[in-house]
Amino acid sequence: MVLFKRDDIIKVIETCQIKGQDEAIIRALMYINLGYPIMLYGPPGNGKTTIAEHILRYVSKGDNYYRIEATEGMTEYHTIGGFHPLSMSGNPELSKQFIYKDGVITRALQENKNMLIDEFTRAPTTAYSGLFMLLSTGQLVLEHREMVLKRPNNWVLMVTANLGDEGTFKMSAALKRRFIPIFIGYTSRYTEEKVLKEYTPKLSPEIVRAILDFAEETRRLWQEEKSLPQGLSTDGVIKMARYCDISIDEGLDAKTAFTDAAMHQGVIIADETDYVSLQTVNELALKIGSRL
Ligand SMILES: Nc1ncnc2c1ncn2[C@@H]1O[C@H](COP(=O)(O)OP(=O)(O)O)[C@@H](O)[C@H]1O
Ligand SMILES: [Mg+2]
Repeated sequence: MVLFKRDDIIKVIETCQIKGQDEAIIRALMYINLGYPIMLYGPPGNGKTTIAEHILRYVSKGDNYYRIEATEGMTEYHTIGGFHPLSMSGNPELSKQFIYKDGVITRALQENKNMLIDEFTRAPTTAYSGLFMLLSTGQLVLEHREMVLKRPNNWVLMVTANLGDEGTFKMSAALKRRFIPIFIGYTSRYTEEKVLKEYTPKLSPEIVRAILDFAEETRRLWQEEKSLPQGLSTDGVIKMARYCDISIDEGLDAKTAFTDAAMHQGVIIADETDYVSLQTVNELALKIGSRL
């Protein structure tokens, strides 16, 4: 059965909080229709999690899906299941016993619920051995339960990943191949201008231009000169605009408001352990600010 018909696709896009990523969303929905798991990847702050939640909420008719955020300490115990000591009960007899607890993927399969694994690559590949089997063979063998769970028809699995981000694990190529990768990159300047009109309608066009110039330049420094580990995200653009809006309201001048906001966001996108990287964004903030 096709989950997303033409009308659904239009509705998903129209109701999505994330603007300017229509092509990626359409591609994700087409592959979901074909039954493939989706991996939304790209630099942080450009709407991966929001898009995945939006699609899952639409197809699951509300918050009726499982959602976890992967962590460094995540193991098969959390995803598939394992034995859990009863020691917490305080009863010495019980403390020697164990109960078997299902992990979140197992529960999703049993209850026929769709699934989002946010920040997928924060957990090591070993946390996903069961998931890998499930995606390869269409079934999950639960040894201790003497049970085999089948992947439900129309089961939707989406994951998000900040590929190459600090503190993430490199996914095994085999696991990566099980997903359809869909890139969520920086949206266009035109889209961001429209987004800011919604968030900060009173902000002057000069400041909006300065913020968008700053964003564009950080992305260029990242992409072309590799002097920054990432560019400013749309999330960062919105935060800058809101900060400028509120501080100008409170009497701050435009130049100071912009420069402050740019420096705050600069710390986030720069490599904070590298003086040169911090210096690069600070100089850029001052340069663009001086035009105001
Ligand atoms: N293209 C966009 N249009 C509108 N808002 C956006 C866009 N990209 C990012 N945002 C804003 O940034 C916030 C954070 O996005 P999020 O989904 O957490 O990003 P990611 O998961 O890629 O880090 C969103 O809630 C939204 O307010
Ligand atoms: Mg996210």
